[in-house]
Amino acid sequence: MDYGQAYGKLEQYGQQHVLKYYDELTAEQQQALIKQIETTDFGKLKYCKDNTTNKKGKITPLTAMELDEIRKNREEYTAAGLKAIRQGKVAAVLLAGGMGTRLGSDEPKGMYDIGITKEVYIFQRLIENMMDVVSQADAWFHLFVMTSDKNHEMTTAFLEEKNYFGYKKEYVHFFIQDMVPASDYEGKVYMEEKWKIATSPNGNGGWFSSMNKQGLLGVIKDAGIEWLNVFAVDNVLQRIADPCFIGATIANGCAAGAKVVKKAFPDEGVGALCLEDGRPSIVEYYELTDEMKKAKNELGEPAYNFGVILNYLFKESVLEGITDERFPLHIVEKQIPHIDEDGNYTEPDKPNGYKYETLVLDMIHQVDSCLPYEVERIHEFAPIKNPTGVDSVDTARELCRLNGIEL
Ligand code: UTP
Repeated sequence: MDYGQAYGKLEQYGQQHVLKYYDELTAEQQQALIKQIETTDFGKLKYCKDNTTNKKGKITPLTAMELDEIRKNREEYTAAGLKAIRQGKVAAVLLAGGMGTRLGSDEPKGMYDIGITKEVYIFQRLIENMMDVVSQADAWFHLFVMTSDKNHEMTTAFLEEKNYFGYKKEYVHFFIQDMVPASDYEGKVYMEEKWKIATSPNGNGGWFSSMNKQGLLGVIKDAGIEWLNVFAVDNVLQRIADPCFIGATIANGCAAGAKVVKKAFPDEGVGALCLEDGRPSIVEYYELTDEMKKAKNELGEPAYNFGVILNYLFKESVLEGITDERFPLHIVEKQIPHIDEDGNYTEPDKPNGYKYETLVLDMIHQVDSCLPYEVERIHEFAPIKNPTGVDSVDTARELCRLNGIEL
């Protein structure tokens, strides 16, 4: 792409200001900027004050597979899951591209040390949980780790330095998620430098297409992987590649499975797994109407009582047919450091624009069937979002203690 073509592309989207400082730049910077213009998808950047893409269809309940039923079939499901793992059909995907803003650490969240008497990093806890399954199955399974431009180097260097906490290196693959431009409230992209558009990670919904773009489908095909267990970096108790969960999803002929917990209280800030126009979907807690909150199932229990914990199992072949364009874009207000009108770099102390994200939970609506699989929150749900208070290092430490995990 040359200057003229870059200008033409920007003109199409009303973003010509990106080239404002072009003449002042070094040849190298000019090249970098043109390259960024070439690779940026400005079309995605639909600033939506009147956003209609996220309108929900008709919501109805979806019955979860509860603990009692799982207990009854545990042996059969576990055997089926272990068989799939031993056959190399299962891999795990760690979503670790987030900024972890709420935790307030400059390092990737997985590098956070939650130990008290010794070092216990979040990554270490996750890998320890995976190693339980490796021992149980007596087989390794592949781990794909999604990072972002902002944390890739630190994440890879850290895991290398720690020798992957004992995980077999050949089974660990990294990929970097895509970035999207951040804009002001009118949809004009911000410049981070005179030669660089301000960008942020594109949310956790783009993981499969980023994996695909970076050639990892080759690894999946070569290894014969059929199921991908996607999970968040911040839940230090979750079971990963859980044989019983995998077996239950396969035995029930579902294209996906989602681990869910019984809500602690009706307004708890977790998305509820439900049906939307007859297809699996996740309705956010703030989208639940009073009617839905009061609705009961045939046992007289709340009908939307199970919340997702960002631990999903997807049939890989199904994901190949889904394009990112099908996902709604979520718009998040954010503080975006940028070059101001006078060309000076500023770091705002309050939100000044939007970042644009797609979310993994929206993938659930793209599959025909999804098994809501209940897990006990006390044993499997210890998310770390904040340093203290709700969903914090403090609460996670307490839950680790209750589960006999030494910190
Ligand atoms: P969160 O929604 O908790 O976001 O991510 P976050 O960035 O980690 O934290 P805050 O909101 O800034 O405090 C849920 C999971 O999705 C991953 C995170 O790393 C976490 O595992 N994620 C999020 C990505 O991989 N990429 C993203 O762009 C966003």
